[in-house]
Amino acid sequence: MKIAVVTGASSGMGLEFAKLIDEEYDVDEIWLIARRKERLQTLCGCLKTRTRVMPLDLTDKDSILQYNNALKEADPVVTVLVNASGFGKFGKFTDIPSEEYRNMIDLNCTATVEMVYTSLQYMTSGSEIYNIDSLSSFQPVPYINVYGATKAFVLSFSRALNAELSGRGIHVIAVCPGWVNTEFFSRAVSDCSIKYFNKVFEAKDVVKKAFKDMKKGRDVSVLGFSIRAQVLATKLLPHRLIMKIWIKQQNRARNADAVYKYTDIERRV
Ligand SMILES: NC(=O)c1ccc[n+]([C@@H]2O[C@H](COP(=O)([O-])OP(=O)(O)OC[C@H]3O[C@@H](n4cnc5c(N)ncnc54)[C@H](OP(=O)(O)O)[C@@H]3O)[C@@H](O)[C@H]2O)c1
Repeated sequence: MKIAVVTGASSGMGLEFAKLIDEEYDVDEIWLIARRKERLQTLCGCLKTRTRVMPLDLTDKDSILQYNNALKEADPVVTVLVNASGFGKFGKFTDIPSEEYRNMIDLNCTATVEMVYTSLQYMTSGSEIYNIDSLSSFQPVPYINVYGATKAFVLSFSRALNAELSGRGIHVIAVCPGWVNTEFFSRAVSDCSIKYFNKVFEAKDVVKKAFKDMKKGRDVSVLGFSIRAQVLATKLLPHRLIMKIWIKQQNRARNADAVYKYTDIERRV
C-alpha cells in the first residue's frame, strides 16, 4: 500500500497539500495529522482518496510512537511526507513565555526530524519529503527570533538530508514562503511588534510551486519574485544591515498604519 502523510492538515498549507496530493499523486491512502480531529474529518469528506485521520499533538513524544506503531501495523510505502505542522510567535524575546519557545522548538524542529526519521524506514526510491520552512530561515529575524532560528534549522536539516538521501532516490525539499494567508497569524500575533507585511501569498499557490519545484529536483522552493529577491539580498548583504532594514520597516509600520496594507492578515488578528 502506498500512502501520503501530511502533518498540519487541519488548516493552511498542510490542508492545501492534502488536496494537491489527492489530485496529483497515485497513493492508496492519505494520513492526515493535526490536533483538531473535526477539521481533519471535514477534510476527509472533500478528498477522493481513502484517508486516515490521526489526531495527534506532535509535541507529545507518544504521538510519534503512535505514528510509528501505525506504520508498523500497515507496513506501507510512504510515497510522500509533508511536514506542515508548525507555529511562530511575534514579540520581543522576553515578552514571550519560555514554555512557548520550548513548544515551538519541539514542533518545528524535533517533530519534523522525528517524523522524517520514522517515515524514512518506509520510503523507497522516488519518495518525497516536503518540509514547510520559511523565508525567515535565510536570516536572523528580530521579534520573531526563535521562530526564525527553528526555520534556519529546518533549512539546514532539509538540504543536508536531501544530499545524503540522493543515493536512495529520495528527495527532500524545504518550502520557504514569505507571508501566507493562513491561521498562522491567529497564533503568532500577540502584540504589535510586527506590523509590516510587504506581500501576502495564498497557501494553494505556495503548494503548487513547491510541487513544481519538487518535480524539477530543487531542494528549496521560494514563491514570488520579491521573495526570491529577498533571499538573494540575504546572500549579498551583511545580515546586520538586513536586520536594521527589517526593524526600520516594522517601526515605520507601527507609526504609520495607513501607509501599509495588511490585507487579510489584520482581519485574522
Ligand atoms: N503563514 C505564514 O505566513 C507562513 C510563512 C512561512 C512559513 N510558515 C510555516 O508554514 C507551516 C504551516 O503553517 P500555516 O501557515 O499553514 O499555518 P496554520 O494554518 O496555522 O497551520 C498550522 C498547522 O499546524 C498544526 N499544528 C499546530 N500545533 C500542532 C501540534 N502541536 N501538533 C500537531 N499539529 C499541530 C495545526 O493544526 P491543529 O491546530 O489542528 O493541531 C495546523 O494544521 C508552519 O510551519 C509555519 O511556520 C507559515
